[in-house]
Amino acid sequence: MIMNRCSFNNDILHKLIDDAYSKFRDLDDGQNASYIPFLKDVDSKLFGISICLTDGTIISKGDTTYLFGLESISKVPTAILALQQYGASYILEHIGSNATGMDFGSLLAILLEQNQPSTPLVNAGAIAACSLIKPIGSMSDKWDIIIQNINALCGSETKVIEDLYKNETDTNFHNRSITWLLKSYNRMYDDPEMSLDIYTRQCSIGVNVNQLAVMAGTIANKGTNPLTKKNVFDRTHAPQIISMMATVGMYQETGDWMFRTGIPAKSGVGGGIIAVYPNVMGIAVFSPKLNQYGNSIRGEHTIKYIVNQLGLSIYE
Ligand code: DON
Repeated sequence: MIMNRCSFNNDILHKLIDDAYSKFRDLDDGQNASYIPFLKDVDSKLFGISICLTDGTIISKGDTTYLFGLESISKVPTAILALQQYGASYILEHIGSNATGMDFGSLLAILLEQNQPSTPLVNAGAIAACSLIKPIGSMSDKWDIIIQNINALCGSETKVIEDLYKNETDTNFHNRSITWLLKSYNRMYDDPEMSLDIYTRQCSIGVNVNQLAVMAGTIANKGTNPLTKKNVFDRTHAPQIISMMATVGMYQETGDWMFRTGIPAKSGVGGGIIAVYPNVMGIAVFSPKLNQYGNSIRGEHTIKYIVNQLGLSIYE
């Protein structure tokens, strides 16, 4: 069943989601993220799949109302906000858009690059992006803008899971090192501790898989939310953020991921993954067990299955 982007209908998508759900539900490889105790205790059997088409249709299956930690997927909306506030050239100069080839929290990558945190989609670049968000100097105003942007992308309200936030704050020593190392290279653009706190807070936002699919659908729809029809960001930033996802969205596995699926994606250690097929759909999957790179195993299998069956590759 290989199709081009125009030849599938909602029945096919329903069937593919049902098939993927039954194929991968019992897959038990990997483990929950364990470096944040809250994440270790999430029920690892949870599994939700959602597709948001650019016409606003949502097709979903499984644990679609469960609120899980947005984690690294939060790097995508805040990168979009930074692009929106500053424009692409400024972001390329102050953060960058290259893969580090190392893990998402790599200090070595910062030491090697020094003059650039590489990309807003790894921890260093994401904390630097949080520091850039205007207005500079005000934690509460910065936070309002960041969460409103996430709500607008999701098409509904999200809020921080306070227990997760507390847990992340109590354990984020590694990210504190990243923050101060960046500061030593003049790559923090606001108060370092405040910027780290904002990053930690955005990772702790609770979302369900339908909200994430709408976020991915909004990116696929070039900045206009398919549900609310509101324009969230300028269409010129869609290919920019999608190219960043295609470069590093699945960390060191990104090359392999793009080769096998042809669809840019971004993962989070909470077990979520979003994938964007431009102009057509956003896909989101949530399931907590991760592989060695920090990517949801059921999530990867599901997205790979759906896009391969549909023959969707941005390189076609
Ligand atoms: O920075 C951290 O350690 C986390 N709160 C988020 C990391 C994450 O999700 C990386 N992704 N796969």
